[in-house]
Amino acid sequence: MNDADDDRSERDREPDGPDRRRRVRSFVRRPGRLTPAQQRALDELLPRYRLADPTAPLAEAFERSAPLIVEIGCGNGDALCWMSGNEPDSNFVGFEVHEPGMGRLLRCLDANGRSNVRVAMLDAVEVLQGQPDGSIDMLRVYFPDPWPKKRHHKRRLVSPTFAAMARRLLRPGGMLHLATDWVPYAEWMHEVLAAEAGLENLGHPDIERPEWRPETHFERRGLKRGHEVRDLLYRARSS
Ligand SMILES: C[S@@+](CC[C@H](N)C(=O)[O-])C[C@H]1O[C@@H](n2cnc3c(N)ncnc32)[C@H](O)[C@@H]1O
Repeated sequence: MNDADDDRSERDREPDGPDRRRRVRSFVRRPGRLTPAQQRALDELLPRYRLADPTAPLAEAFERSAPLIVEIGCGNGDALCWMSGNEPDSNFVGFEVHEPGMGRLLRCLDANGRSNVRVAMLDAVEVLQGQPDGSIDMLRVYFPDPWPKKRHHKRRLVSPTFAAMARRLLRPGGMLHLATDWVPYAEWMHEVLAAEAGLENLGHPDIERPEWRPETHFERRGLKRGHEVRDLLYRARSS
C-alpha cells in the first residue's frame, strides 16, 4: 500500500513483455514490516491460496465452475475476505503486491475457512493481459492509488489501455465496479471509461455503494480526512 503522493520518479520501471517495451506501474513495491503472524501466513498459507499458474485461465484455479470476480489491489484484504463469504457461489481472485496486506488477507481467509478465493502477489495488469476474452464476470477496483500529482497521472491504474483490457476481459453483461475517495480521480475514471464504446455507465453518473461492497480500510482513511466517496459501475455491452 502506497502513500501515493510522494516522489516515485522512474526508478521502478521494469521490462514489460518480450518486446522489452516499458510500462509505468500503478504501484511501488515497498518492503513493509511484516508481523511474525503475517510472515507465517505468507510461508504457510500462500502456497494453499496462490494462483498456481498465473498464465493459465483464472477459472482453472478452482475445482468448480462459478462466476469469476477479480479484485485488483485488495490491500489488507478486509473487503475481499468479507465479499467471498457474502457471495459463496462466486469464485474470487485477488491481486495485491504489498506483502503485509497479503499476509493479513491470508490469515482472514484461513480463519474463515474460505475455499472460493485465490490470490497473487503480482502486477494484476500483467497477469490479466494474458487472460482470455470474456473470461471474467466482474472486475472490482476499490480505492486505487489516486496519484494526485499531474506528473504521476501516468501511474493511474485506470487508463485508456486499462479500459480496453477490462472491456475485452468481461463477458458481455459483465461489470466493472470502481470506488474512490478522490473526486478528481472519479471524474478521470468517467472520462476514460466513457471513451470506451464497449462499456456502458450504469450510474448517474455514480451509484450508491452497492450491498456487495463493504467499507474498506482506505475508504475509512479517506472519510476521516473528509473525502467524499464515489462508486462507479460500468457494464460490458453485448456487441
Ligand atoms: C490505496 S490501496 C487500496 C487498498 C484496498 N482496496 C482498500 O480500499 O483498502 C491500493 C492498493 O492497490 C495495490 N495495487 C496497485 N496497483 C496494483 C497492480 N497493478 N497489481 C496489484 N496490486 C496493485 C497497491 O499495492 C495498494 O495496496
